[in-house]
Amino acid sequence: MCISELLDNNRIWAETVSREQPDLFATLAKQQHPKYLWIGCSDSRVPANEIVGMLPGELFVHRNVANLVKHVDFNCQSVVQYAVDVLKVEHIIVCGHYGCGGVKVAMGHDNAGISDYWLRSVKDICVRHKDELESIVDDEQRLARMCEINVMEQVSNLSNSKIVQTAWQNQQKLTVHGWIYSINDGIIHDLKVSRDASSPCEDIYMPSA
Ligand code: CO
Repeated sequence: MCISELLDNNRIWAETVSREQPDLFATLAKQQHPKYLWIGCSDSRVPANEIVGMLPGELFVHRNVANLVKHVDFNCQSVVQYAVDVLKVEHIIVCGHYGCGGVKVAMGHDNAGISDYWLRSVKDICVRHKDELESIVDDEQRLARMCEINVMEQVSNLSNSKIVQTAWQNQQKLTVHGWIYSINDGIIHDLKVSRDASSPCEDIYMPSA
């Protein structure tokens, strides 16, 4: 596909959406009220809106390599703060995917350039879960499990963040979910690690009221 075809496709898409929902663009031009924040991998095979059937305006999105939530990543934290404090999203979904190249790099020794710095925290997760990972003989299965563990760790990072903890302290309705997407069949699996204000939390992460 050449680059001009992308613009042609865009015209067709905009016409189709306008035909199906004549007021959509006019409504969205004034305001957005998404109920969901999606934190996913940059991987082209995991397009956020499409895989959950959502139109423009329904999903606030942040994507980076290996769907990481780092407390000093002002890009990610700015997105989370806007979504939680201003948009008042009710759900944050951290969605990883099986076969994640970022996770795979972190599990090995290849030189990936600047990504090695970004993925360093994933290596730390590998070390924390060394016993479980080393018990898995098959390489593919070990990677798959690490992709799941990575999502769970990011759910934990997000849940223990100042922004989310403060929202929970203020009785804001907000749930954090951990999902994983299978690039082989397009199906999302709920890792069942959802957390909300009632979930147990280490005292040290709680901001003063
Ligand atoms: Co990935």
